Amino acid sequence: MKILVTGGAGFIGSHLLQLLQGQQGVEVVVYDNLSSGRREHVPKGIRLVEGDVRDAEGLAHLFASEGFDSVVHLAAQTMVPYSLSHPEEDCQINLLGLINILECCRKYAVKHIVFSSSAAVYGDNLNIPLHEEEKPMPTSAYGITKMASEHYLRMYHDLYGLNTTVLRFANVYGERQGAGGEGGVVSIFCKLLAAGQGVTVFGNGEQTRDFVYAGDIAEALWRGSQLEGHHVINISTQKETSVNQLLAAFKQAVGREFPVQYAPIREGDIFRSVLANGRCVELLGFCPAMNLQEGVARTYADYLQKIGDK
Ligand SMILES: NC(=O)c1ccc[n+]([C@@H]2O[C@H](COP(=O)([O-])OP(=O)(O)OC[C@H]3O[C@@H](n4cnc5c(N)ncnc54)[C@H](O)[C@@H]3O)[C@@H](O)[C@H]2O)c1
Repeated sequence: MKILVTGGAGFIGSHLLQLLQGQQGVEVVVYDNLSSGRREHVPKGIRLVEGDVRDAEGLAHLFASEGFDSVVHLAAQTMVPYSLSHPEEDCQINLLGLINILECCRKYAVKHIVFSSSAAVYGDNLNIPLHEEEKPMPTSAYGITKMASEHYLRMYHDLYGLNTTVLRFANVYGERQGAGGEGGVVSIFCKLLAAGQGVTVFGNGEQTRDFVYAGDIAEALWRGSQLEGHHVINISTQKETSVNQLLAAFKQAVGREFPVQYAPIREGDIFRSVLANGRCVELLGFCPAMNLQEGVARTYADYLQKIGDK
């Protein structure tokens, strides 16, 4: 089986490539413009093609010459604030880029695509834990392009028979995450704490998130690439973790106390966020299970090691 991973040089991509490397009979090609991804995230033995998902011609050439069986589409502009200041660029990369990929899937007989969607499609909905049937009501340009992308995927399934799996990730964290992007609080804390600084929490720290480990996301992407039909599935722990609980996990990982400053809450921040994961268990046969303490410890250790290597 030959798989194309767009955005494979990024944070989540790097975890997926590690997993795919160990699969028998799977050939992987990465397509990435390295805007936020890194060449060193692509292991030896996996081919990296440098290119942009906005380049329809370049993609057509790649699909025609490679003959992919399936695609995992991770390439994206991932920063919510940037999507608000640059809505046109967000749409070009995240929506038009996806359409370029879907058109190639249709023309070059690809059987399956997995799409990385986001909890951002739900917007600020307090009917938690949020199930997939909730009405999407995104509050950012990023969430809107993810939601529109989901509709395109369903349409390509209905009209052209492409198998389409939409995975809505909660707040992903883990080794190799950049300090920008979505759900970056863990990597931001890692960066500050590794530099011996304290951290700032916006609000009283009781706001919650559903922190899911990137290795579990990789497992979901791999399992999702084997589903037939069209599916929309949350990938989450279904556990609400407050920022104060996250800080406690960091205190253990770092092994010392550190200063925490509480600042006024930021406008537009969602107070509680947790996604139901019953459909993930039912359709993908697994439950994202990385324990937060262990996940934070691994992420912090990786950060320290990188600083040591510099
Ligand atoms: N990290 C999270 O918490 C989270 C949550 C929900 C959804 N997602 C989604 O998961 C996917 C992967 O996110 P990530 O956290 O690994 O981000 P990332 O920024 O580390 O990875 C994105 C990758 O896409 C590449 N890329 C960006 N624009 C491109 C373009 N125009 N053409 C080709 N490649 C391009 C980047 O170089 C990078 O390697 C994204 O679609 C993101 O929206 C992430």
